[in-house]
Amino acid sequence: PKRTRIHHLRELKERGERWPMLTAYDMYSAEIFDEAGIPVLLVGDSAANNVYGYENTLPVTVDELMPLVKAVVRGAKTALVVADLPFGSYQVSPAQALQTSFRFMKEGGAHAVKLEGGAQFVPQVEALTASGVPVMAHLGFTPQSEHALGGFRVQGRGGAGERLVEDALVLQEAGAFSVVLEMVPADVAKRITAELRIPTIGIGAGPECDAQVLVWSDMAGMNRGRKPRFVKPYADLGGILLDAARRFGDEVRGGAYPDAEHSYS
Ligand code: KIV
Ligand code: NA
Repeated sequence: PKRTRIHHLRELKERGERWPMLTAYDMYSAEIFDEAGIPVLLVGDSAANNVYGYENTLPVTVDELMPLVKAVVRGAKTALVVADLPFGSYQVSPAQALQTSFRFMKEGGAHAVKLEGGAQFVPQVEALTASGVPVMAHLGFTPQSEHALGGFRVQGRGGAGERLVEDALVLQEAGAFSVVLEMVPADVAKRITAELRIPTIGIGAGPECDAQVLVWSDMAGMNRGRKPRFVKPYADLGGILLDAARRFGDEVRGGAYPDAEHSYS
């Protein structure tokens, strides 16, 4: 199988075929999702919460995300790997966005980057696109702006929906190859999906987007804490791992492991 390219995602949209995206932060998960046929893997800044244990995505740095990008690139044989630009690594200027993205592509081996924000980041998206960096945009609830947005809230309700449509259109014109829509009313996401040539990727944005993304630890039930409404756990990996660790502990304490079968004569 050949590497997924950004034009393949455009072709899927033209054919009306939906596709899935997951986050990945390490080699095993990347290998497994790749084998499962997930065409796009995002090394999200959600690694802040899901790998590093921070409260939110704000503290995570390029240096913390870089090793995760490298690991996912090594594990993903065919998936397109997108590196998320963390808070403070692209907002300052197009030059800063270029420098950060070049690092993720040169050192990390990423195939594309993602950044949060609307029309105000058109200069960044244009500069990146012109320099050979494919850009995934991210609109709606943008976690890096949690404090400005006043917490986890649906974005684009009522009159604010029009603004979202406008932002999506200008980001497309600036060269973005896709746009994530997070916590957006389903009817607004449907309208944006219909108006754009580039694919929309929903997370809490209803069923009409071209693609859907979830944080893998939410998707597989590895994260056993509170989950937003849009999360559907497809497994109880946290429970499975808890059980495995408990049984290992019990067998070591009880002397059942290792037995002859797992020892050398
Ligand atoms: O960091 C992340 O996981 C994301 C996705 C949820 C889109 O930005
Ligand atoms: Na993110």
